[in-house]
Amino acid sequence: MSVEPRDAALARLYDLDLAEDPGDLDLYLALAERTGDPIVELAVGTGRVAIPLAAAGHHVVGVDADAAMLDRAQARAAAAGQGSARLTERLRLVRHDMVAVHRADLGPSLADGAGLAILALNSILLLADRARQRAVIATMGSLLAPGGIAAIDVWLPQIDDLARFDGRLSLEWLRIDDETGREVIKQAAAWYDDASRIVTLTTIFDEADPGGAPRRWTRSDALRLITADELSAFAEDAGLIVERLAGDHDLGEFGPGSERAVLIARRP
Ligand SMILES: C[S@@+](CC[C@H](N)C(=O)[O-])C[C@H]1O[C@@H](n2cnc3c(N)ncnc32)[C@H](O)[C@@H]1O
Repeated sequence: MSVEPRDAALARLYDLDLAEDPGDLDLYLALAERTGDPIVELAVGTGRVAIPLAAAGHHVVGVDADAAMLDRAQARAAAAGQGSARLTERLRLVRHDMVAVHRADLGPSLADGAGLAILALNSILLLADRARQRAVIATMGSLLAPGGIAAIDVWLPQIDDLARFDGRLSLEWLRIDDETGREVIKQAAAWYDDASRIVTLTTIFDEADPGGAPRRWTRSDALRLITADELSAFAEDAGLIVERLAGDHDLGEFGPGSERAVLIARRP
């Protein structure tokens, strides 16, 4: 097995982990059709959302703090761009803390603000506390042009999920990574602290070439849980008008049993 830097391996394994489609792309494509460009995606990761938006003809700026995730996004965009004219010209990737980013950090296309600002797939939970979660929504508001839309999607674990977050290690999946040909096993343990509302998630990936020595990669993430009420309040604090608080990616009604909150808010 060749030596691969840890951050590059974790970016590759992030994509393997997301082999099951979260089912949110149609939502962002529909919103982009409605709002027009430019689009900014905070916490763009490896480009799972941003690349299809650029492939559909949109101009997208993606922001992420992790250089290895951005390198992978760039490589994926270049590969996708072979079948889609000028895709890489429509996607700009910027390394920055998503809370502290300003229009001026994102290049001339953002000078007049974005039509759509996206914070997808629970990324807001990676911000350590309530203040930073509130601040990132204010940042989204500041990046939007008047009339622009912010879309934030977050997981809302239910009481029985939280009860299982007691540090037990469980086998999540065994997959073949087509990129490397290696068999990969993912195990995870979650620990929930009610006082801080933080889930500490430890993830272990074991992989090996057929007949080769195994290699283990571990990561630990702290997820600060947020409620749908907090999400709406933070949007209002940012001067945004909540258009819809939905319970799924089809913008179905939000209710007590909803496992997600999808907030759509407009800058007046
Ligand atoms: C769950 S992934 C989401 C990636 C992508 N949006 C998607 O839907 O597949 C979260 C991303 O947030 C990034 N991230 C975490 N904290 C960040 C911060 N403070 N500023 C910018 N990016 C951050 C991580 O590097 C990671 O790429």
